[in-house]
Amino acid sequence: MDLEMKTLCEPEGVEVNTQPFVLIIFGGGGDLSQKKLLPALYNLFKLDKLNNDAYILSYGRRERTQDQYRELVKTSIERSLQGGKASIEDSFLEKFNYLSGDSEKLEGIDEINKYICKFKDIKKYQIIFYLATPPNLAENILNLIQKLELCDKPFKKKIVMEKPFGIDTVSAINLNDNLHKIFEEEEIYRIDHYLGKETVQNILFFRFGNSIFEPLWNRSFIDHIQITVAENIGIETRGNFYEKAGVLKDIIQNHMMQLIALVAMEPPANFEADCVRDEKVKIFKSISIMSEEYMEENLVLGQYGTGKISGENVVEYRDEKNVDKDSNTGTFFSGKFHVDNWRWAGVPFYVRSGKRLDRKLTEIVIVFKTPPLKLFGNACRDMLANELVFSIQPEEKISLSINMKYPGVENYPHPVEMNFNYSKLDTISLTAYERLIVDCIKGDLTLFSRQDGVEEMWRVLDPIVAYFNKINFKFPNYSAGAWGPVKSKILLEKDGRKWRI
Ligand SMILES: NC(=O)c1ccc[n+]([C@@H]2O[C@H](COP(=O)([O-])OP(=O)(O)OC[C@H]3O[C@@H](n4cnc5c(N)ncnc54)[C@H](OP(=O)(O)O)[C@@H]3O)[C@@H](O)[C@H]2O)c1
Repeated sequence: MDLEMKTLCEPEGVEVNTQPFVLIIFGGGGDLSQKKLLPALYNLFKLDKLNNDAYILSYGRRERTQDQYRELVKTSIERSLQGGKASIEDSFLEKFNYLSGDSEKLEGIDEINKYICKFKDIKKYQIIFYLATPPNLAENILNLIQKLELCDKPFKKKIVMEKPFGIDTVSAINLNDNLHKIFEEEEIYRIDHYLGKETVQNILFFRFGNSIFEPLWNRSFIDHIQITVAENIGIETRGNFYEKAGVLKDIIQNHMMQLIALVAMEPPANFEADCVRDEKVKIFKSISIMSEEYMEENLVLGQYGTGKISGENVVEYRDEKNVDKDSNTGTFFSGKFHVDNWRWAGVPFYVRSGKRLDRKLTEIVIVFKTPPLKLFGNACRDMLANELVFSIQPEEKISLSINMKYPGVENYPHPVEMNFNYSKLDTISLTAYERLIVDCIKGDLTLFSRQDGVEEMWRVLDPIVAYFNKINFKFPNYSAGAWGPVKSKILLEKDGRKWRI
């Protein structure tokens, strides 16, 4: 059963601050830039949401001429467009300039100064530094930024930091201290692009915009929560990065923690950035730190072996480019978390994430308790628990399963689904990166992490990383195309539950 959307009032569309900006992308030729940032900027341009006075300087290690870089911008955008080749407007490409330099040697300071100083009225621009670079470069790029003179004229500045922010609590605190030597907290945009996705934002809207679910949203009515962030792709060209990050730092410390917070948080006093972020931080603080005995029983780390994805044979993780032959890096994680507060005491949050899994799937499943009595004694099947599913990938969709009586057959329960699918809406919604770029230009920090939240997320992760670092794993322990190691299935089965998919 599909649900239609009735229009109560016409949405006003996404407003963009008309202030002109200069965006300096460190890592402007990297994977993130090519797949997400450049296409997002182009879509905003096409939607007429970029100021005419918007300019981009990309910085990277490789030597490239301006023409070569603009060609890279063009092909990145073409690749992102479903229809293949498109004629990308020169007026868009001309907004881009490229500068090659090694940030570890602090190269390019003079060139960046010169680039910015050529703008006649620098005061009218905001300057946004975007670190689309591996986390280990953050410190030296901040050194570089600190050394910029930028024409000694006042201008509005901001910095966007990609996840992961630091590599543990200590480094996150140090990184933050260094950031604060140059930027005020309200100028720092710690990005987690999951928060820019419509369905993710809709979790809060759904919970606090409807009165029928929130009274049930607690330990009395919810049996458990499942969160899956699964990809069928491997690490592609990102071996150097992934070897250091693994699934724990790439997904669990940031995306997964944010998803847990959105499901579990209390209603904020209002939707101001700090009120929302205050409530999230309370959830991170409530996630219990696990003992080694608990971790041994309730956490699973895996690494993919060979297997088939979409019918094609794929190599094992240790045979991927730039990966150590004896690598102990986890490409799969599942575990049972607890949010130890009044609302959630005793409700397990089962989470899992991995690469080279059966399919691309990101979803949050709220599994309600089954009715207290089996009234339909003659039923040939047990009643299934009601499940509310927020699908984030591949489709943005919300569905609720309910039990109906199957027509004509005595007391035969039949589960049906009520669905709401975003793709059926006749409206343009911004992709996560488009939305977050717009929010950054506008100065809206609601969907970005605050430092105390980042530190709390690391507080949960640090002991888990330390625990796994001590174990000498016999990897690989799952085949590409499976749902991770068998232990992940057993994790729920021993509690009398099972993964929805
Ligand atoms: N890729 C994604 O889908 C994705 C998604 C979400 C978040 N992120 C985050 O985005 C960040 C970047 O990831 P990525 O996948 O784009 O990495 P990547 O493909 O390895 O790109 C890194 C970029 O940094 C540049 N770079 C590396 N060393 C440098 C140096 N010493 N001096 C100057 N530039 C240097 C590279 O320049 P050259 O190209 O010239 O070598 C490249 O442009 C990471 O924090 C990651 O967690 C990535």
